[in-house]
Amino acid sequence: MRHPFFLKAAMAAPVVLACNGNAQTKALEAPLGPVPLVDVDPDPDAIEVSIVAAPGRWAFLPGKPADVWSYRDGNVDGDEGRVPGPMLLGKLGDRVTVHFRNELPEPTTLHWHGIKVPALHDGSNVSQMAVDPGASFTYEFTFTEAGTFWFHPHLSADEQIERGLYAPIVVRGEDDIAVDADRMLVLDDVKVESSGVLSPTITGLDLMVGRQGNVLLVNGERLPRFEAAAGGRERWRLLNTANGTYFNVGLPGQRLRVIGWDGGLLPEPYEVDAVVIAPGERYELLVELGGVEGETIELQTQHYDRGHDLPDQGPRALATFALTALPAGPANQSPAPRGQVEPLPVTADTPRRSFTLSEQEPANPGDEPRFFINDEAYPDVTRLVVGTGEVEVWEIVNDAEMDHPFHLHGTFFQVLDQPRLGWKDTVNVPRKSTVRIAVDFDNPGLWMYHCHILEHAERGMMGVLQVGPSP
Ligand code: C2O
Ligand code: CU
Repeated sequence: MRHPFFLKAAMAAPVVLACNGNAQTKALEAPLGPVPLVDVDPDPDAIEVSIVAAPGRWAFLPGKPADVWSYRDGNVDGDEGRVPGPMLLGKLGDRVTVHFRNELPEPTTLHWHGIKVPALHDGSNVSQMAVDPGASFTYEFTFTEAGTFWFHPHLSADEQIERGLYAPIVVRGEDDIAVDADRMLVLDDVKVESSGVLSPTITGLDLMVGRQGNVLLVNGERLPRFEAAAGGRERWRLLNTANGTYFNVGLPGQRLRVIGWDGGLLPEPYEVDAVVIAPGERYELLVELGGVEGETIELQTQHYDRGHDLPDQGPRALATFALTALPAGPANQSPAPRGQVEPLPVTADTPRRSFTLSEQEPANPGDEPRFFINDEAYPDVTRLVVGTGEVEVWEIVNDAEMDHPFHLHGTFFQVLDQPRLGWKDTVNVPRKSTVRIAVDFDNPGLWMYHCHILEHAERGMMGVLQVGPSP
C-alpha cells in the first residue's frame, strides 16, 4: 500500500492524520473515497497541505495505464499522483494553506470551486497570474461553509481537467449526520482507446457539446465495487467533474433523498427518482440501503436529453454495492439535520441583469464553434460592476440548442421560480428556457461566471464581474 492513509474498511472510521515523522496527530473523519491530503499543521483549526501537479500514470482500464496529468500529495514521499487527486478535508472555520507547485509542461492554476476564497486566491483567469512550469504559489483561505466542493485548473480547463487534474473537497460542519458510511463519489467520464490511453482525438462534437467519454468513472475507476451494510444508512456526496456529460443518477426501484446542494445542507430535504447532475454541480443524498446480505445494488446513470439530439444509450452502471451484514451499533436513525438557509431579500426594487447564452456552429468545416454571453466571447468582454453587499436578480436566458450549466465564482445564489431553498454555485439552464437566480455579492474582488461545459467556457462562454471597488 503506497499511501499510509488509504482507507480499507468499508465503514467510515476516524482517520488519524499523522504527519511525516511528526508526533502531532489530528483526528478528523474522512469520507470513503479519494485519500485525504496530509495535513502537517498540528493546530486543530488550521490545515497546511502541499499539492504538486505533474505528469503521471493512471489506469482507467485495469492493467492498462495511461499517461495523465494528476495531483500528488507533496507531503507523501514518492507519491505518484492519482485521478481524482487527493481530497482536501477540513472543517468549518479551518484556516487553509496550500503550497502548490506546477511540474506540468504548461501554466496552470488551482481554482477552489464553491469555496468562498479571497479573490486573489481564486485561481481563475482574472484573479491571479498563471503558475508557470516549475513555479509555485501559496493559496490561503478559510472554510466558511460546510459541504462538498472541488478544485481544478482554470487555464485550458477543457484539456487539463480531462487529463486528470481534479479533486474533491469536503468541509465538515458541526451538524454531521450519523451514518454507517459517508462516501465521496466523484463522477466523470473519459475517452480512452482500447490500449487504455486517453484518446488524442478531439472531434467537432466534442467541441460542440463538451467532450464525452466512452468509459464512466467513479473515483477514477470504471465500475468500482464497494461494500455496504444491508439496511444501513449512508451519506453520498455526488460531484460531476466531466467536461460535458450530464449524469442522471438513480438506484433502480428506490427513491433518493436529497439533503444537500452545492453550498451545503438543505432546510427541507426532498425525494426524487433520479437526480440530474450537470458538470460542476454537487448533490448530497441520504440513502437507506434495502436488501439483504449477499445482494448487490447498482448505481446507474440514465439518459438525460440536454439537446443536440445526443443518443439515448440506455441505463449505464456507475458502481455496484455488495451488501454485507450490518455491523453492531448501527448509526442512529434520528432525522437528518437540516441546513439553515434564509431566502435572500428580493423585492421589486432589487437590481436585475439579464444574460443571454448563445452558440454559433462553425462556419467552415475545421473551424471551432463559438459560445457567447450577451453576444460577447471571453476575453473580449465588458466587466460588470456590483457593489459589495448588494443582492441582485440575474436572469439567465438560454437561447441555444442545448443546456448550459451556469457557474458563478466567489459566492452562492438561490434559484428562484422553483419550490426549493438552498445554496448553489452552479445551475443547469435548460435549452430555450430562462432561469432566475438571486445572488448575494458579499465577497469583493474580480470574479468569473461561465458555462461549466469546459469546451464552452474555453471558447467564449465566460464573463468577468467586479464586486466592490476596482482592485
Ligand atoms: Cu469549476 Cu470557474 O469553475
Ligand atoms: Cu455551455
